[in-house]
Amino acid sequence: MAARTIYRCASCGAETPKWMGRCTTCGEWDTLAEVVAGGREASGRVASGTVAGIAAVGTPTGPPRSPAVPIDQVAIPTMDQTSTGVAELDRVLGGGLVAGSVTLLAGEPGIGKSTLTLQLANGLAGGGRSVLVVSGEESPQQVRLRAQRLGILRPRVYLASEHELEQVVAQLDAVAPDALVLDSIQTIASPDLPGGAGSVSQVAGCAARLIAEAKARDVPTVLVGHVTKEGSLAGPRALEHLVDTVITFEGDRHHALRLLRAVKHRFGPTDEVGVLEMTSSGLATVDDPSSLFLADRRPGLPGSVVVPTVEGHRPVLVEVQALTVGSSLANPRRSGQGLDGGRLAMVLAVLERFGGVTTNSLDVYALAVGGARVAEPGIDLGVALAVASAAAEQPLPPDVVMCGELGLGGEVRHVSRLERRLQEAARLGFTHALVPLAAPRVDGIAVVEVATIGEAMGWASIPPSGGPSGRSRTRG
Ligand code: TYD
Ligand code: MG
Repeated sequence: MAARTIYRCASCGAETPKWMGRCTTCGEWDTLAEVVAGGREASGRVASGTVAGIAAVGTPTGPPRSPAVPIDQVAIPTMDQTSTGVAELDRVLGGGLVAGSVTLLAGEPGIGKSTLTLQLANGLAGGGRSVLVVSGEESPQQVRLRAQRLGILRPRVYLASEHELEQVVAQLDAVAPDALVLDSIQTIASPDLPGGAGSVSQVAGCAARLIAEAKARDVPTVLVGHVTKEGSLAGPRALEHLVDTVITFEGDRHHALRLLRAVKHRFGPTDEVGVLEMTSSGLATVDDPSSLFLADRRPGLPGSVVVPTVEGHRPVLVEVQALTVGSSLANPRRSGQGLDGGRLAMVLAVLERFGGVTTNSLDVYALAVGGARVAEPGIDLGVALAVASAAAEQPLPPDVVMCGELGLGGEVRHVSRLERRLQEAARLGFTHALVPLAAPRVDGIAVVEVATIGEAMGWASIPPSGGPSGRSRTRG
């Protein structure tokens, strides 16, 4: 059968029989390139003479090349995981880097990706491996100076500054390292690929080549990728599908805390979170995130609430603060830093309807302290009571934590892993917890079960009120 011409998207790999200016699968422009359809059809497995070859598709050609195996008899290859020397990164990776695997480390500019990869290179070198660090962002001098400042200068770490893909491969040939770090994939380009450095076709094409090199050489590779403020990988989303592991590096640049999360991991679970702190000597493990978040807390402040949240497998106590002030705006301000804006609006509505706290003439500022980002609904009850406490200018008892999701009927709903959350609260000296019904019992902390937001406000003796004067209103 004659070879057939099709068009393949350089960004997402989608194929189409017809050329188009824009890929209908990923929406990228000018990424379709002509290719000859796969060898299988060309080699005659589809009989010619049938109508479009359809009748012959799937005609048995003998036993399958790799017979299907019962699920319990599938051989599990032993995975050699190499510790990166950065404990929190190992935790997220489920032990370390797998030979020949490709990991994408994605984060906003300035978050600490270069620092982390340098510490990782140092850790691998400390384990007796040679590491090639190719930077398209900094000169070897700059990288050396940084390593020197961090007190990590191991001769097994090789530095090169490159912007061309072929040169990166040449460096791989020359150094023959045990691991490769490329900082960043957006700064590397190949003259054989369309577009400039950082373009969709370049990033995907260069990544594909480096993945092939990693597999062929069995060299674990870490690619640094920049993400935009909106959180999407600048460059092709296709990169996320190509690599084995995607780790995001998040945090607020103005705060020290950093979180590592595996959003995709072919070699293990993705629900573990690494907690790091950016210090003057690089990224350090945070053994006790709750203490870090609560370090500057002033108990007895109106509008302050401590909420036990869960990051990965670890419970983390976070302080939520709210402030309400009279508004001169037709649409009063609602600001929720580190919180979900839509969720905040919902909590305010439930608080008004079922808690009798009116905020429609107030600007409401709510905040997860210390640069924490808490998007889980389990903090609803805490946010609601923080706002109520702020509006009434009445502090909540200092030794109480609260968690529960709020329903639109004002009911307090179940949250996951409540026992772990309460244990963490008890460990940090909290004596009472406001929780949904049917909560587990935990030593050292008394649980107060509340069915509704109204009950929670009653327990905290916050009067239903609309303003700072604390005047009472009848419930609506
Ligand atoms: P960097 O690793 O360059 O971030 P990225 O590669 O993600 O852009 O580091 C970001 C910031 O971290 C930088 O502004 C300075 C700060 N920093 C420290 O606070 N302590 C340190 O030890 C280092 C190396 C950097
Ligand atoms: Mg950098």
